[in-house]
Amino acid sequence: MSDASVVRDNQRYWEALAPARTGAPVESLRSGADVFTDHERAAIGDVRGRRVLQLACSVGDEALTFAQLGAEVTAVDIAPSHLATGRAKAEALGLVVDFQEQNMMALSEDLTGFDLIFISWGGLCWTPDVNAWAHLAAQRLNPGGSLIISEHHPLWEVLTVAGEDRLSISADYFVPDRAGYADPLKAPEITRTLGVPDLPHKSFVWSIGNVISAVLTAGLTIQSFQEFPEADMYPNLGTNADRIPATYLLTATR
Ligand SMILES: C[S@@+](CC[C@H](N)C(=O)[O-])C[C@H]1O[C@@H](n2cnc3c(N)ncnc32)[C@H](O)[C@@H]1O
Repeated sequence: MSDASVVRDNQRYWEALAPARTGAPVESLRSGADVFTDHERAAIGDVRGRRVLQLACSVGDEALTFAQLGAEVTAVDIAPSHLATGRAKAEALGLVVDFQEQNMMALSEDLTGFDLIFISWGGLCWTPDVNAWAHLAAQRLNPGGSLIISEHHPLWEVLTVAGEDRLSISADYFVPDRAGYADPLKAPEITRTLGVPDLPHKSFVWSIGNVISAVLTAGLTIQSFQEFPEADMYPNLGTNADRIPATYLLTATR
């Protein structure tokens, strides 16, 4: 299966999820609801006047927050309906975000010269080739610009809570292709109310080694790599959920 057909299938899949995926209400964004974690906020820093590109932006809550923080924001996604939701929110909030329908693996030439490229929470797993993805992102950064990846931890992706205080392994950490969702918690959150659409789609679990190698091979300098627990992501694991990683945050510069 070619990368282009993976992206085409995934576009249809995400469009099917669009009607039920609206993100944060406009009112909460207006009143300054913070869609970033404290760690993301610290990594992002002061973005006033900076050119920011968000990849796989979905309905745009993070992109809109970057705009609220004073950045000049471009945000891309393959799902037109998600982008339409983002544009409607931008209008309601009086914010400017350049939402564009683009495949993050084949960005148009004019999308370049960014001070920050950001991807988060269930974005990176849609790239069929993490090396090509990192190479493209690195090319589109200004010298000194930063890449921030804030993602589900690949270990979380392969672990399933099998009972009170018990984990089982539901996928192979070392094999990126994810055939379906053995654990419904690993499917996009919206599928828990809507169900997984009966449409072909394909995502990939990139190991920590895959991600770090891809970023280094792309010529970037890793500035920080942090792992975090998130009890909600391991329901029923009790306090043990605080002892294993659920997310990670990588920052790198060109
Ligand atoms: C879980 S959501 C985005 C996560 C985002 N951080 C959020 O919290 O809304 C995943 C998004 O990736 C998008 N996507 C999947 N493959 C893509 C690709 N090749 N290029 C750009 N966007 C893609 C989907 O359309 C979907 O909106």
